[in-house]
Amino acid sequence: MDHTTEHQYPKKNINNINKAVLVVGGAGYIGSHISKHLAKNGYTPVILDRNVKYNFISQKFSDVYEINLPRDIHLLDDIIKRYNIDCCIHTAAYTSVGKSVKQPDSYYQNNVVMTLQLLNKLKELDVKKFIFSSSAAVYGVPKDGVCFDTEKNLDPINPYGTTKLIVEKMLREYNTAYGISSISFRYFNAAGADRDGDIGETHDPETHIIPIIIKAGFQAKEFNMFGTDHDTPDGTCVRDYIHVDDIAEAHIKAMALLDSNICEAINLGSGTGFSNKQIVDEVAKHTGAIKVIDAPRRAGDPPQLIADITRSKELLNWKPIHSSIDNVVRTAVQWYKTINKKEIN
Ligand code: UFG
Repeated sequence: MDHTTEHQYPKKNINNINKAVLVVGGAGYIGSHISKHLAKNGYTPVILDRNVKYNFISQKFSDVYEINLPRDIHLLDDIIKRYNIDCCIHTAAYTSVGKSVKQPDSYYQNNVVMTLQLLNKLKELDVKKFIFSSSAAVYGVPKDGVCFDTEKNLDPINPYGTTKLIVEKMLREYNTAYGISSISFRYFNAAGADRDGDIGETHDPETHIIPIIIKAGFQAKEFNMFGTDHDTPDGTCVRDYIHVDDIAEAHIKAMALLDSNICEAINLGSGTGFSNKQIVDEVAKHTGAIKVIDAPRRAGDPPQLIADITRSKELLNWKPIHSSIDNVVRTAVQWYKTINKKEIN
């Protein structure tokens, strides 16, 4: 077994690089946007991912390591020492609410056990700053659909949300016991794509509503609307869509806060909700009419999740500037066209 990463980049010269930040899951949808923003802001993202696809990240960034956590956890000794890393952004997780209900074992394994092993390794190597990709799913079914991050009694309704809440609790205890500073960002529905068109959302299989509707629209396929009898204004679920560029910018702002000893869990949303029907209408502006099939509710779906973003604005001196629904859908459509050139032209 290799105990260094030299076999991947044997001649790599890491002298004279800017301040390095470990981005676990850095080749994924949200991680790649964060990595790009880190680089723009003078940091060197050191990207770890199980699956480094041949894309913008692998082409434009040189500090990219294909490693499988927790199996390859020992490789972190070498990477963290070589780059003198003191901060980790952890975005790697399974993220499908529906699948977590059917296969909770894999969610606890990947989202909780893997994160525990990562945290323990960071503790051992004296890495004391941590940013965690948490989720609005920790709220369960909030009263009136609005989620306040001051709320202490959280009750997730799906295993995905439970895994995120467990890690938030671990981080609180690791802060008290070991002085690890952390910010858990409760992402609402991350959506949209890089404004330069370099990166965007591509999951396999895709489970998220916006890319699914875009595909249905352009390929003249049916879109299954999960639940039309929810207790919401038009009967379909309401979600708060936050553009990935706004998420990435919040991470840059958070870097400075981690210099003091803090442990926070805060919302990252736009503060506005859109129903699934409204999302269909937004996408149809680009694709033409979409065939919608009324399907049963999806297990584990709360009817409405909208972020209260008072604390994130105050703490981070941040506000969402890219998250109008028009910009979210337009950049997602642009990304779909980029990766499906033949099909559209
Ligand atoms: N939906 C459909 N048909 C589909 C896919 C989704 O009707 O084919 C509906 C869902 O039932 C839900 C809405 O679209 O009502 C949004 O579903 P997504 O799967 O796109 O997103 P979720 O709200 O389930 O989950 C996302 C993130 C989670 C995060 C959560 C917080 O994936 O990480 O938002 O709201 F926790």
